[in-house]
Amino acid sequence: MLENNKEDLWKHFFNYPRKVYNQYILKMTEYPEYIIFDKEKMNSNKEKWGSHFGNDNPLYLEIGSGSGNFTNGLSERHKDRNYIALELRFKRLVFSADKARRRDAKNILFLRRYGEEIQTFISEDSLSGVYINFPDPWEEKLKNRVIQPSLFQLLNPLLKKEGKVFIKTDHDGYYNDIINFIEKMPEYEVVYSTPDLHNDAKAEGNIKTEFEELFLCKHNKNINYIEILKIK
Ligand SMILES: C[S@@+](CC[C@H](N)C(=O)[O-])C[C@H]1O[C@@H](n2cnc3c(N)ncnc32)[C@H](O)[C@@H]1O
Repeated sequence: MLENNKEDLWKHFFNYPRKVYNQYILKMTEYPEYIIFDKEKMNSNKEKWGSHFGNDNPLYLEIGSGSGNFTNGLSERHKDRNYIALELRFKRLVFSADKARRRDAKNILFLRRYGEEIQTFISEDSLSGVYINFPDPWEEKLKNRVIQPSLFQLLNPLLKKEGKVFIKTDHDGYYNDIINFIEKMPEYEVVYSTPDLHNDAKAEGNIKTEFEELFLCKHNKNINYIEILKIK
């Protein structure tokens, strides 16, 4: 059982000391119904997220959910689906949970967890879809990118037959790289792609993320969009 004080919480996540602690690390504990940060608790729920939500509705996942606008929007729109969103930053988790609490959402949960550890807390054949929006492009260190063939290999057993991965990015190079490596993976197929989501039929119904708002308003940047289908 984790003690709810800043020092113990910090030690739970990091193996180096701090003099001044991020205030949101403690704030996070004020949202137990919306944020899980204890890895053991997540792992023990691997086979039973349905009981957490109190139903067997389809499960969708977002990796790198930021301040939570997107998954909150989806969970409001589809009350008959369950949503789990992964995010690393404490402040963004708190903002996300706050949005969920203000609308008394029952079908959404935020985990402080790396996308690359997904197989330890999500069971096989359980995901109907995965969303990744505006992942950091890591221009100088491509190996740090979240979206890589290795992530798709990890996701393959977890995705249901005909499960989909939905990606938005402002980074044109990242967009092309994803399309190119998926073409070489026999388990997947790109079933929709556009380099300009906001001037495309898919713009209708699109839920904007916080970063998307920024790229559109401040930088007037085209947004790339991809849908990838699991075919085997
Ligand atoms: C550029 S931000 C985009 C946030 C949000 N999707 C949006 O569009 O507003 C990328 C987010 O992914 C999170 N992140 C980065 N690497 C991650 C990983 N390996 N697993 C989970 N989240 C990650 C970061 O903390 C950050 O909030």
